[in-house]
Amino acid sequence: MNFRVRPIERLAGTVEVPGDKSVSHRAALLGALANGVTEVQGYLEGEDCLRTLTAIQMMGVEVTKKGPGHYRIAGAGLDGLVEPGDVVDCGNSGTTARLLIGLLAGQPFWTLLTGDESLRRRPMKRVVEPLGRMGATIVGRADGGRLPLAVRGAERPRAISYDSPVASAQVKSAILLAGLRADGPVTVTEPAPSRDHSEVMLGAFGARVERGERRVTLHPGPLRATTVQVPGDISSAAFLLVAGALVRDARLTVAGVGVNPTRTGLLDVLTAMGVTVNRTAVDGPAEGERIAALSVESAEPVGTTVGGTLIPRLIDEVPALAVLAAVARGSTEIRDAGELRVKESDRIAAVTRELGKMGVRIEERPDGMVIPGGQRFRGAHVASGGDHRMAMALAVAGLVADGETVVEDVACVQTSFPTFVELVNTLAGGAAVTVSA
Ligand code: S3P
Repeated sequence: MNFRVRPIERLAGTVEVPGDKSVSHRAALLGALANGVTEVQGYLEGEDCLRTLTAIQMMGVEVTKKGPGHYRIAGAGLDGLVEPGDVVDCGNSGTTARLLIGLLAGQPFWTLLTGDESLRRRPMKRVVEPLGRMGATIVGRADGGRLPLAVRGAERPRAISYDSPVASAQVKSAILLAGLRADGPVTVTEPAPSRDHSEVMLGAFGARVERGERRVTLHPGPLRATTVQVPGDISSAAFLLVAGALVRDARLTVAGVGVNPTRTGLLDVLTAMGVTVNRTAVDGPAEGERIAALSVESAEPVGTTVGGTLIPRLIDEVPALAVLAAVARGSTEIRDAGELRVKESDRIAAVTRELGKMGVRIEERPDGMVIPGGQRFRGAHVASGGDHRMAMALAVAGLVADGETVVEDVACVQTSFPTFVELVNTLAGGAAVTVSA
């Protein structure tokens, strides 16, 4: 499937993006482990999060769909899951794979896990190593570093204090999930704060969690089912906000967006680049994820430098940010972002290569890129490489290109933002993006 994107002059209106991907995965997993029935509203019905729902069903958890994004999860409790009868396919979803490996490290049965071609290339040692220390047996390809993997959880995982070499919410969350059945408290320390949805939601499910700036300790114990209202995904809103800043005559609002401070790095960078983002806070659900309406209008962005502790707060937004930086006045440097090389694709190489096809020059660095500003996009044939965020970033570039752009291989957008085309066209007031076979 391809996108055919035509340049536009105008974007206007208010839309809502689908539920947050990270929060949806966690709602399914904690719901499965809790005692009692968890009701989730606003669940992201993208392929990645549906993989997580299928995985918990394969472990004997009853999941009932009550309406769009509305699920009832009958928790099995920490000791009630059963060995899946077949291989669990995590598809394209790194979060499904790594969080599940963590959960399974505390379940005393065998599970086989695999994923698509992209996921089978991505590093799993980062979770396999600490979970092995907790007593899980994990074997597989590349010395247990790549899917397919087989996991046999420990009868009673050992408590550890783990100093993670990467600022990764997936690593942190995997250890916390294993820790729920551990023989004592588990502590994870990270080099910079990563998204904290697991900590927030564990608290809402009644777990005892102690937190410092870069450190979290979980005390093992049962979870109590609750209701979860999933906010809109700021990582999806990012594409619309960047489009709003770029298109000549734009004024748009994305309502109901989760603005957990560990996720709002893009908003800080937009502000630093001279793009005004108005936030209207909305009363969020009691369990602690903040929500706001975000408004943006056409701007004349200036270049900036992005690095350090900002990086984990906007890691998924870099492809969209690169598109904005290319047209900004002055150059933009993105550094300390080597993690981009192990996402759904190598996003440093992919951004450089594909925006290059649109006539934009970017200097690739091992841990980021330098994007000279003041450039223009030329309509071209580009390819997502099967990476959803590349597909959407390239489509946004196409909205402000000279001439038509074709983005190849866009079925992957279904993993995280199934309504992307519909929302862009709603705001554009016509068919700016069309999908062809
Ligand atoms: C996620 C964490 C991030 C992010 C991914 C979702 C999560 O990955 O890139 O899209 O839900 O925990 P890392 O933990 O690898 O940084």
